[in-house]
Amino acid sequence: MYKKLMTCVSSVREKTDFKPEVGLILGSGLGDYADGIKTEAVVEYSDIEGFPVSTVKGHKGRFVFGYVEDVPVVIMQGRVHYYEGYDMSEVVLPIRLMGMLGAKKIILTNAAGGVNETYSPGDFMMITDHITTAVPSPLIGPNMDELGERFPDMSEVYSKRLQEVVRKAANECGIALKEGVYVQFTGPNYETPAEIRMCRAWGGDAVGMSTACEAMAARHMGLEVCGISCITNLAAGMSQVQLNHKEVQETADRVSEQFKKLVTKVIVNM
Ligand code: HPA
Repeated sequence: MYKKLMTCVSSVREKTDFKPEVGLILGSGLGDYADGIKTEAVVEYSDIEGFPVSTVKGHKGRFVFGYVEDVPVVIMQGRVHYYEGYDMSEVVLPIRLMGMLGAKKIILTNAAGGVNETYSPGDFMMITDHITTAVPSPLIGPNMDELGERFPDMSEVYSKRLQEVVRKAANECGIALKEGVYVQFTGPNYETPAEIRMCRAWGGDAVGMSTACEAMAARHMGLEVCGISCITNLAAGMSQVQLNHKEVQETADRVSEQFKKLVTKVIVNM
């Protein structure tokens, strides 16, 4: 896997020598953030040797390199999900790649279902911690000693320093930021009402199908991580309506301008 990672690094390096400071992953419906930045290079996932290519509708598949104000960033437009059939080690390859390209700080974003009863669709939740009991660890398998240690600490996956940056940025944007614990499930099905009650009993506030595994891989290699969920719907069993991807995208689209403002402020201040 390390060899595969290095092949991907060389493949990107043949196309651009841009060195990002910050890596940003854009979730469902949030993908057009990259269209508004000062772009220096674009690399399609399909042009990177050995790179897993996302199959979800509404997810573009490319890295955008450029500047947010004067901060050099790499943005992933479209991520790879476990439910697409990839191994966890492949799911986290892109985050490792961003780290190898130079990114020291990572912003993870996603669409998530609200488990906490005080949340409403359209809220933003800063991730303070996560639960990944329902998915395999991305660190299973031979350890990549080049990246990090066998038994990495996970007591501060989401950097306290960056949490403060996000809090301040939200405040300046006039956003009533929620804070909570993200629970990752495999998907692609939405959860059952019983699973959502379990999440709540566990201390979860939002539920989704990505992000936490990426955060773990990023921490393994020593990157500083923050995460922001867009609460796109009430989780299963919390309202009369059935869950669907269209609702998720519509909510994400509705708040995308606010989201862009928030992310820009975070990047500039991190
Ligand atoms: N569950 C899982 N993933 C999600 C949800 C949800 O309710 N909403 C958006 N992504």
